[in-house]
Amino acid sequence: MSRQQVVLATRNLGKIEEFRRILDEIHSDSIDLVGLEHFPELEDVEETGETFLENALLKARTVCSETGLPSIADDSGLCIDALDGSPGIFSARWSGVHGNDRANIEKVLKELYSIPAQERGAHFTCVSAFVMPDGSETTAEGILQGLILTEPMGDHGFGYDPIFRPLGSALSLAQLNAREKDSMSHRGKSLRAIAPRVAAMLGTLG
Ligand code: IMP
Repeated sequence: MSRQQVVLATRNLGKIEEFRRILDEIHSDSIDLVGLEHFPELEDVEETGETFLENALLKARTVCSETGLPSIADDSGLCIDALDGSPGIFSARWSGVHGNDRANIEKVLKELYSIPAQERGAHFTCVSAFVMPDGSETTAEGILQGLILTEPMGDHGFGYDPIFRPLGSALSLAQLNAREKDSMSHRGKSLRAIAPRVAAMLGTLG
């Protein structure tokens, strides 16, 4: 059987590797997952939605219609209880500069300065969306509950990992290795939920 190309709507190689590992878990080896680096002419999709779901669908639909191939996209962020769910969909640019992890962390720590430990609840959300050229779609959400620490701990990962401690863990996400994080993360959960549906919709389940 020839392998079915599926586009993962990201230029982040880490995300592509993570999704490949999860597809391996369900033995769907007839899917050939390619990232946006294979489509240099495509412009980044502007995330104009108001929810993670809208943004994930927007990216998957746009990439599917521009490439003519089945496409997967995800959108994720950190939601802090004491900030009424912020930074949410604005997580990457919370400090005003897109992708400045250090400034984003500093802003959160400042905003939570006077908030006691028991009120520092937060969760990461990730929504994945899969869109086929015939218009069929499916989406899946993954959530990781935890607490915001009072100072950064650990050097692994990215984004808010150094100030997020998952419930039941003694360590921050940035103190876990990639596999440990994948096994519990919002992205891991969302991809694990959608992967068998992707394979079933493509008719490639091993
Ligand atoms: P995106 O879904 O890749 O656009 O991620 C949005 C932003 O949310 C990232 O830039 C990070 O600031 C934050 N974020 C999402 N997932 C994680 C995570 O697993 N760890 C830390 N920060 C994350």
